[in-house]
Amino acid sequence: MGSQYCLSLEDVDEAQKYLSSLVHLTPILTSSSLDQTAGRSLYFKCELFQKTGSFKIRGALNAIRHLSTGGGEKPQAVVTHSSGNHGQALALAARMSGIPAYIVVPRTAASCKKAAIQGYGAHVVECEPSDESRTDTAAKTIQETGGVLVHPNQDPAVIAGQGSIGLEVLQQVPAVNALVVPVGGGGMLAGIATAVKALRPDVKVYAAEPHNADDCFQSKRRGSLTPNPRQPNTIADAVKTSIGLNTWPIIRDLVDDVFTVTEEEIKQATRFMWERMKLVIEPTAGVGVAAVLSQRFRSLPGEQQNICVVLCGGNVDLGSLDWLQNTRDTEDTAPA
Ligand SMILES: Cc1ncc(COP(=O)(O)O)c(C=O)c1O
Repeated sequence: MGSQYCLSLEDVDEAQKYLSSLVHLTPILTSSSLDQTAGRSLYFKCELFQKTGSFKIRGALNAIRHLSTGGGEKPQAVVTHSSGNHGQALALAARMSGIPAYIVVPRTAASCKKAAIQGYGAHVVECEPSDESRTDTAAKTIQETGGVLVHPNQDPAVIAGQGSIGLEVLQQVPAVNALVVPVGGGGMLAGIATAVKALRPDVKVYAAEPHNADDCFQSKRRGSLTPNPRQPNTIADAVKTSIGLNTWPIIRDLVDDVFTVTEEEIKQATRFMWERMKLVIEPTAGVGVAAVLSQRFRSLPGEQQNICVVLCGGNVDLGSLDWLQNTRDTEDTAPA
């Protein structure tokens, strides 16, 4: 099966071996009250506790490993144009590998995002808030620095790194019947599906997606890659991206189904996790929780009893919470 796709189980295996000493083996948590609500046993893979607060460090580190081993030498620099979790992850991965990182960020991005990227030691390169300016600025930065672009979700080494989540889940929950994975560009979904379907074809792999950003659902329905026609409007900001040329064939062939959820369902599920499990997940992780609590999911056959939901990240913009808005962060308030 490997040659048809941009990666195989071997790539994910290699990634996992490399990553095992560098990233956290994140825990699986359970909640009997959520099990009751869902009518199944739920296992939450807590990537919100991962380094940088999301699973993205897996792919970023593995991509840098590939760049370094390809020609024997480390790249001069790495560049990306994601201001979100991938930007932060690449910043830390580059620092861990001793390479400068340049992250292109729209000048309108929340200042906490820029601060986080700088906190991990990367250079923030500001651009105008448009796709064109992002791409142009990244290209210019690559020229100026001699750096290499690390794509957030279509780079095969990034996809393989994210797939290590699937291998861990099979080890941590051997009785698992299905995994539920939020999808944006599809790097995490395609990586997990590659690993899980090669080792345990009986285990279902489901995608979870906001109804307002349902390119994966539409692509599967039509049988051809169908990107979002315009910039989607969803609270799950990390999955506004569409799946791409490398992730689509894997998703087309190996993902069993796509569950879409409304904005209200995402908010309710996120709140539920905060209240019941005390897990400060970001709304994008709430997409997976909302999917398993949806009517359509509940009507799945009863033999799919053990469901693992990937809680992909916990980078909540605290400035968006009314009651916290006028407080300062701990660095400001630390005693001199
Ligand atoms: C927290 C979180 N979840 C899910 C995703 C979607 O991942 P992918 O683009 O690999 O589908 C992202 C991507 O930025 C993310 O940051």
